[in-house]
This record gives sequence, C-alpha cells and structure tokens, in this order.
Amino acid sequence: MASQSSNGDVKDLSLAKEGVNRIEWAEREMPVVRIIRERLAREKPFAGLRMAACLHVTTETANLALALKEGGADVVVCASNPLSTQDDVAAALVAEYGIPTFSIKGEDDATYYRHISAALDHRPQITLDDGADLVNIMHRERSELLTDIVGGTEETTTGVVRLKAMANEGQLRYPIIAVNEAETKHFFDNRYGTGQSTLDGITRATNILWAGRRVVVYGYGWCGRGVASRAKGMGSHVIVTEINPVRALEAVMDGFTVMSGVEAAKVGELFITITGGLHAIGREQLEVMPDGAILANSGHFNVEIDIQALEELSSGNRKVREYVQEYQMNDGRKIYLLAEGRLINLAAAEGHPSAVMDMSFANQALCVEYLVKNHGKLEPGVYDVPIETDAEVGRLKLASMGIYIDTLTPEQVRYQNTWSEGT
Ligand code: ADE
Repeated sequence: MASQSSNGDVKDLSLAKEGVNRIEWAEREMPVVRIIRERLAREKPFAGLRMAACLHVTTETANLALALKEGGADVVVCASNPLSTQDDVAAALVAEYGIPTFSIKGEDDATYYRHISAALDHRPQITLDDGADLVNIMHRERSELLTDIVGGTEETTTGVVRLKAMANEGQLRYPIIAVNEAETKHFFDNRYGTGQSTLDGITRATNILWAGRRVVVYGYGWCGRGVASRAKGMGSHVIVTEINPVRALEAVMDGFTVMSGVEAAKVGELFITITGGLHAIGREQLEVMPDGAILANSGHFNVEIDIQALEELSSGNRKVREYVQEYQMNDGRKIYLLAEGRLINLAAAEGHPSAVMDMSFANQALCVEYLVKNHGKLEPGVYDVPIETDAEVGRLKLASMGIYIDTLTPEQVRYQNTWSEGT
C-alpha cells in the first residue's frame, strides 16, 4: 500500500490513528520537549525554514518533528535506519500532522537511499541526522544544496565520529552541533536508554532468561556501560571486551570480568556488540563460540558482527522466530543472529524510552534554535552543545520530576573563585 509522493512514502496510511495514540502516549513522558514546543509555538523562530530530519522514525521523533513544525519550520522526515521505522508513526506524521515522511520498516537499501534523496529534494536549510547520512550524501552527491544551508545537528556517537573525520580532512562545509556530546544526552540516552532498550529488544526477540546467562558486552563506552550494568542487574554474568585500556580498567573496577574477544567468545552465551567499530565479532570468534550462541548488535551500523564470515562458516540459515535467524554452521553448531545484525533495540523493540529521549530531543530542538539565531556566525565545523543548553535541559528535566536543587550562596561563589584561602 506504499505510495511515494512529495507528501511521503509510508507503509500504510490506515495505521495513522494508532500512530497518533502512541505519539500522544510518548508525549506524556516528554515534559521538557513539551515546554520547549509550547515556547517555539509562541515565538515561531523557525518561520519558513526548511528542515530535514533523518532520524529513527519513532513516537519520540514524531514529538520532536511536531515541536519544530510548531516553531514554524517546514519539516520532512526520513529514516536513519532501514529497520527502525514504526510504520504507524510514519503514517500519522503524513496523514494526521502533515509532515512528509519517507520511511518503511524493512525497506531495502535502494529504498532507504531513495528516501534520503526524497528528504534532500526538500532543499533543507537545517539537517538533523542520526548517523550523518544527510550530511554525507549532501556533500558527496547533492553539493548544490550547500548554498542555502544554515547548519545541522548530529544525534549519535557514530555520526559525530564521521563528521569529525570530514572536518579533519577539511571536507565539512557547514556547522554541525554534536548533540551526542551534551552531558544531558550521552550520560542518559547512551547509558540508561541503550541499556534498557537493548535488553528490551533482545528479550522481545528471544524471550530468553537473563538471570544466570553469560553475556559478553563488546565495548565499554557510555552505551556499553549501560548494557553491561542492566544485564548485571538482571542477574547475568557479564564479561566485557574493550580495546581502550582505561575503559577496560573501569570495567574491571565496576566489577565486570574483562577478557579478549576470542577468550570471551569461548565462554559466552549471548554476545552484544556496542563498539561503533567494524567486526567487533569476527571470524576467529565465530569459530570458537559455543553451540546455541546468540548474537545481537546495538551499535548504529550493521558492521559490528562479521555477517559475511558467519555466512562463509555456515551451510545455510533459516528464520526461526521474528528477528531470529538460525545459522547452521559447517561444524554442526548452530548460531543465532538477531535482527540481521542491525540495532536490536530499534529493530525488535521501540528504541529508548520516551523519558530519556526527552532530554536528547530537547537538546536537538534547542540546538536547531541556536543555529538559526547564529546563522552566518558559525564557521563550518563540529560544535559542542552550548553549556547553557545542557544545563537548561538538566534543570527542566529535574523540575519536571519535582526535584529542585540548591544554588551556591554569594559567599560560596567567592570561595570558589579564590585561591588564597586554606585551612
Ligand atoms: N534512538 C534510540 N532510541 C530512539 C527513539 N526511541 N527514538 C528516536 N531515536 C532513538
């Protein structure tokens, strides 16, 4: 029932009402975005500006898109991953909110890129990315669009890494704010959001018991820390692999067993990649994993598990449950790959809970506003979220929880600023 036009390309418009109900449900958990949306609706700082958001098409993203639209923007949305779209949300955006949306869950790679291209046909002046695909394609294939550009935002660690590589090579042609770098983003979204949603996705896909299971977590960045701590909380025996010695040490002192990938592969049962890098699980590890091993990825791209090696080491595969593919290994073992190695939390579950996306997307909306206010003043490059924005999001979130904190007295401020007072 898909129908592509400049209004969008979604799976089934009849899902729109269901989408609205779920978008409104998420909104109840997003008080900070709501406060910002209400202000933007009054002030209209984005009047007439064209924006394209290449984000996971979820109930939370819908609330961000609505905030931008109420601020006066002319917004279009496309997916930042072929498997993460919630089709009812995409339908609601098109049919109920008038936001052109190009995304269908399970779309093939050609459709995925056609949808990004459709979003770029909108000639955005602001881009919002989760993985830097809009920026990337705009620079490589649609450079005529760079003349009108005001700026962009980037949601995720992987995207920030890509953008910094572009900037270091002198290739980045407009200012982009790395939303991921805000403390109110990565301390919470990456850690508690990924922690909870990864376990949620694996549980929905497999219905496994976590208690007593040997779980290997690849990578101990903010996301890995979250996944490891939540798996531990569920009673799993958690092993961490990490290539950065300081992070590995932190994992040891957080109480985890730390091993090399190959050693971990011999003893683990459930393997979760969250490194942001290539082939965290490679051939050497696939060769020694036990029969029945389950593999899941929660990193942005589907490159963390070497699927080609898995195919080469196996004689065939079959779907045994939604999101579970059983590989018959040549040596008789069976290995289970979840969600084609794509991010399990968005493919098999609904991504991070709304309450944590509230902070990430509050940062997004405020950073877009900052870019608009500072149009013409920012050189091309990757920028941190302004410190005041981070603090404001923290304050608003605390207030929404009914928590108010102390401030320093003038005397305490003076003490902090002197160096001569001691015992
Ligand atoms: N990334 C992780 N979880 C998400 C969600 N619920 N919505 C949008 N992007 C996400």
